Amino acid sequence: MKGLILAGGSGTRLRPLTHTGPKQLIPIANKPNILYCLEDLREAGIVDIGVILGNNMPERVRDLLGDGSAFSVRITYIVQGEPKGIAHAVGCAEAFMADDPFVVYLGDNILKGGIRYMVEEFAQGGHEALVALCPVENPEKFGIVELDDRGEIISLVEKPKQPKSDLAMIGIYFLRKSIFPVIRSLKPSWRNELEITDAIDRLRNVGKVKARLVRGWWKDTGKPEDILMANHLVLETLERKNEGTLDKDVRLIGRVSIGRGTTVKRGTVIRGPVIVGENCLIGPDTYVGPYTSIGDGTTIINGEIESSIVIGGAYIDCGKKIVDSLIGAGCRITSSENALPKGCRFVIGENSQLII
Ligand code: TTP
Repeated sequence: MKGLILAGGSGTRLRPLTHTGPKQLIPIANKPNILYCLEDLREAGIVDIGVILGNNMPERVRDLLGDGSAFSVRITYIVQGEPKGIAHAVGCAEAFMADDPFVVYLGDNILKGGIRYMVEEFAQGGHEALVALCPVENPEKFGIVELDDRGEIISLVEKPKQPKSDLAMIGIYFLRKSIFPVIRSLKPSWRNELEITDAIDRLRNVGKVKARLVRGWWKDTGKPEDILMANHLVLETLERKNEGTLDKDVRLIGRVSIGRGTTVKRGTVIRGPVIVGENCLIGPDTYVGPYTSIGDGTTIINGEIESSIVIGGAYIDCGKKIVDSLIGAGCRITSSENALPKGCRFVIGENSQLII
């Protein structure tokens, strides 16, 4: 079986973070989202992997993954360019897949329980496709599936006004080459995309489509609050580690992971789960609270931060408490306290969000 990771799309809901790279590279617990997908595939024994590239700095995906050898997989890049829909992206991989069955994994999805059990189920044969489902709280925002007693799909509706269930199709689809003629027969939807929901719905005329509830949690990291939630969920299983240098009176409480070259200065309290990357400076007199990920090369002095992601290379010295925040690479947040005229000062990019 082959794999296909989708790393295209426009990522408009994640601006300004996606002005400097594709959303699939945004780190969750200090690891780019796409690597979680790649590891799930590899752990299920899938090492021949196509990666769909869009037109938002695709070179950054190539720089991270290379030919895949650093991750013990083989990567083939497939250029989609313009985001014409998930089904369109899958269609771009026809030559790469040839006659093999394959699993599509959206590069901004993250899953707790891996995909091995689904790979095994699909490999047993008998189905044209297998789609992964997860119950959601807001079914009107997803592709919703209605099942019969045997787990076969009765209906499949994108963003239904009156949902027949709360089971959403997540971004993991097991397919065969029978999907390609179906994709060719699709017409663009109202949002001008070839929809994977339409493709799978039509595929039901060709053969059986099975659905499987995922084990553990699943998260799609398309919006800032989803990224913070995914970070929260991943940090739940963080392991304690300290490769840094700590002043004597620093307090690390619970599961805290500190990377190489990082210094934590006097009076600082870090209450896990918290991951701090390499070559950071934390403190003096700083509080880092639960569910925070701090990327490499970050300085945080004299402040408080909690339930947040600092992507890396940031400088924070503002004496304020920062919560539920996503802070992009290289940001500076400093205090305006002794500056005149009084007031907040911003140099912020397009589509930034500030709550002050
Ligand atoms: P979406 O989150 O649905 O779309 P998007 O990336 O364009 O984001 P936004 O709505 O914020 O503008 O995409 C789901 C996944 O599929 C994501 O990993 C990107 C990928 N994708 C492609 O690779 N090609 C495409 O044409 C589309 C639409 C998405």
